[in-house]
Amino acid sequence: MEENNIELYQSRIKRVLITQDEIAAAIKETGEKISASYDGRPILLVSILKGSFVFLADLCRAITVPCEIGFMCAKSYYNGTVSAGVVKITMDLEQDISKYHVIIVEDIIDTGRTLNDVVKLLKTRKPISLKVVTLLDKPSRRKVAFEADMALFTIPDHFVIGYGLDCGEYYRNLPYIAEYDETK
Ligand code: IMP
Ligand code: MG
Repeated sequence: MEENNIELYQSRIKRVLITQDEIAAAIKETGEKISASYDGRPILLVSILKGSFVFLADLCRAITVPCEIGFMCAKSYYNGTVSAGVVKITMDLEQDISKYHVIIVEDIIDTGRTLNDVVKLLKTRKPISLKVVTLLDKPSRRKVAFEADMALFTIPDHFVIGYGLDCGEYYRNLPYIAEYDETK
């Protein structure tokens, strides 16, 4: 990215796919669903960094029951905009998850490899229950069978940016989800 070329930067935001209002409405509904499932035992929202940090910030404020927050950093390696199929946990949780209903909070499920690995790992730690909520789902791109318990939006096979999702670390701060123009 030529970070000093603002016109090029802006021209790569091809079109808005999901607006701020649409995201807010879907998060409100999901927050209500999660709150309704509370049974008196603690909920731990596990945010997979970096992509889910914006989603987590809004989702946790749509939840009205007690919940804690934890962070894990999972890096899926990319060649440009294509997954290279290698997932590495570069930062782990500090909580003992055996005391929690764990809800993994992810930005997008693409090939499914990241969450497949993260879920496998967290299951070995015996949480009370384990669920996955993802903002976006691209089911047409799966390489391993993986289904989220809650997916707010299903999208076609486009590389998307914004609302936490990046291309080369840029565009995470867009308040909406946009399609990225790979031709420029
Ligand atoms: P997976 O392991 O292929 O399912 O990919 C998961 C990770 O790849 C996500 O958590 C994102 O960080 C990244 N990713 C996948 N698709 C996109 C996209 O369209 N835009 C930005 N990041 C993406
Ligand atoms: Mg991610």
